[in-house]
Amino acid sequence: MMEAIKQRIETAESFAEQEVRTFSFDTQQSKLLHRYSEELAAIGGPQASGAKSKAYLAATELKFSFSKDQCELLGAYSDGLVSLLIFDGLQKITDTRPPDELPDLASLESRHDVLCLAARNQILLKLVDNSSFAYDMDNEGKLVRLVANFKGGGLTKIPAEPDIKELSSHSGLALGPHTEAPYWCAVNAQDGHSPSPSSLILSALWNPSLEPTSVIPLPPVLQKIGVTNCLALTTGNFQFTRSDSFVSGKGEDGRNVSILEFDDKVGFAARFNSYRFSVNDNASNFVKTAYAALCQGVGEATPVEYTLTQESAMVINNIRALHCRDVIKDNRRVLVRIFGLSKFSSPIVISEDPLRLQG
Ligand SMILES: [Fe+2]
Repeated sequence: MMEAIKQRIETAESFAEQEVRTFSFDTQQSKLLHRYSEELAAIGGPQASGAKSKAYLAATELKFSFSKDQCELLGAYSDGLVSLLIFDGLQKITDTRPPDELPDLASLESRHDVLCLAARNQILLKLVDNSSFAYDMDNEGKLVRLVANFKGGGLTKIPAEPDIKELSSHSGLALGPHTEAPYWCAVNAQDGHSPSPSSLILSALWNPSLEPTSVIPLPPVLQKIGVTNCLALTTGNFQFTRSDSFVSGKGEDGRNVSILEFDDKVGFAARFNSYRFSVNDNASNFVKTAYAALCQGVGEATPVEYTLTQESAMVINNIRALHCRDVIKDNRRVLVRIFGLSKFSSPIVISEDPLRLQG
């Protein structure tokens, strides 16, 4: 009996371990990646036309330098079987220290080191068969998003601290566990909406106080809450509020969506946001219980914490894991983020190069 329980605990632990994997670049590989990133930044970074094919070629070339184990790891993420893939051993991009106060968003976005980090993210996404993209109604239609406290809400006030804080990656507020919006569907387009991002990749330009990013893989949580609750979460009994990162006047609240769905290609796919989702008032008790169990399971999960620097990046599987962060303590922290679309996703394409989707 004890032996069986012990084995079950060990299985659960190795289950969690497999969800988070690290891909380490050796010096030669990392030099090569740096060179391709510089070349991509020189034409304008991910937003430039032609960046898409350049990133593809760079990823193809890089793969020739990878070992069999390294290729297998990329394949496992590409197939949707990993929650979080950390890339380490990357080259430092710049020695420039952050100023005491961040410059405005537009001048940060056009910096060469930012374009270089963004370009590197685009190539890393391509290594796991994800294409960089933007939604028409989010982040002003741009592929690259800088995650930093531009709008207040951090531990320390910014010079123009507004009274009402935006609940988005442009503020300094703590963000509870969530997947990235939009939340209409996760893999296949539905009713004129493209699916949620398949992945998001993050790296850091500056993270002087070494503030971590947290990830909660969902498979152990779902295993804990059990099969009946999971089934109840596949019903369209949930609603969500509009994201603050959407272009003003675009995007909307949503009703009658599910949190989980079964998918033939990836198994299960999730959409959830602890501060935007709720269960419909008229849902059955089974569904309400399942929602409470999910919230409790997520609340009790121990997040994987990783501190990003210029020498690392993390790709989060946005249909298999939640991410969150604490309140921003050092306002000089700047992360560079891009969304990725997997080989399994079928979106509504507005433009191909750069790739823009209807949200
Ligand atoms: Fe997020």
